[in-house]
Amino acid sequence: MNIKYKKAAVIGFPIAQSLSPFIHTYWMNKVGLRGSYEAIEVAPDTLESFLKRAGELGLNGFNVTMPHKTTILPYLNKLAPLARQMGAVNTVRVEEDGKLTGFNTDSIGLVAHLKNIVAEYPTDKPALILGAGGAARAAAFGLLTENIPMVMISNRTREKAEAVAKNIGRGRMTVVDWDTRSEAASAAGLIVNTTVLGMNGQAALEIDLSHAAKDTVVYDIVYKPLETALLVQAKKQGLRTVDGLGMLVHQGAAAFKIWFGCDVSFDSELRAELEAKIG
Ligand code: ATR
Repeated sequence: MNIKYKKAAVIGFPIAQSLSPFIHTYWMNKVGLRGSYEAIEVAPDTLESFLKRAGELGLNGFNVTMPHKTTILPYLNKLAPLARQMGAVNTVRVEEDGKLTGFNTDSIGLVAHLKNIVAEYPTDKPALILGAGGAARAAAFGLLTENIPMVMISNRTREKAEAVAKNIGRGRMTVVDWDTRSEAASAAGLIVNTTVLGMNGQAALEIDLSHAAKDTVVYDIVYKPLETALLVQAKKQGLRTVDGLGMLVHQGAAAFKIWFGCDVSFDSELRAELEAKIG
């Protein structure tokens, strides 16, 4: 057994509010891995110098969050295929020789959580992604690997949705006007909110779910608060819902596996502790 002390971290700016140290420390304790996981604030102008020191700091790897997910790309020695295709990195492994390999576990995390919560969702209807930022791209990558006929994407700024559909849609994505998102929701089997709308401090996402089919699943990747107005509305309509906490946890589990080779899970104890933290 490798008893060497393990070290991992998350880098971002700001980073103080990150739940990742709690999640990874929970797993380290759970699998009996001696180590630590800390949040390291890395301002944009110090990213390059941080990356040069990552090996010296004794890190086995680290997660990458805003605003570094795309700006980190030129500094990495190697990219896993998915990270290369997505043009974004959320996980870095520090190799034995100090070289850095970039991965992206966001799309895997998003789909893993969906499948954990709902055993089945309609695959005979298109999915609808709301938003066109980094999270929307992760959602699109994840859903395009699923057996769904078509993925609709709708964003306030239509051109951004068009760019996502063109760059990664492989002919299976279509753009829906932001003003017609409620009609699109009625036709969708799965609705995924990746916008910031509904987050604490942001306006709610306005959408009418009253014409959605009863087997529709509504997935909000916002997790602060856990129960957004979108999910409240969906529940009132009798629709199944998926909150955003699991995506965070599952992308973290995939990163943990990349660094340490151990399988970890989102068990009920971890969920309860995170819910208490979010409040
Ligand atoms: P991330 O990379 O985390 O997904 P982002 O790139 O900042 O974050 O994307 C935020 C998303 O929320 C975008 O789709 C944005 O829409 P625009 O592309 O039009 O900016 C969306 N968003 C933010 N504020 C919004 C608002 N008031 N109404 C509708 N969409 C909004």
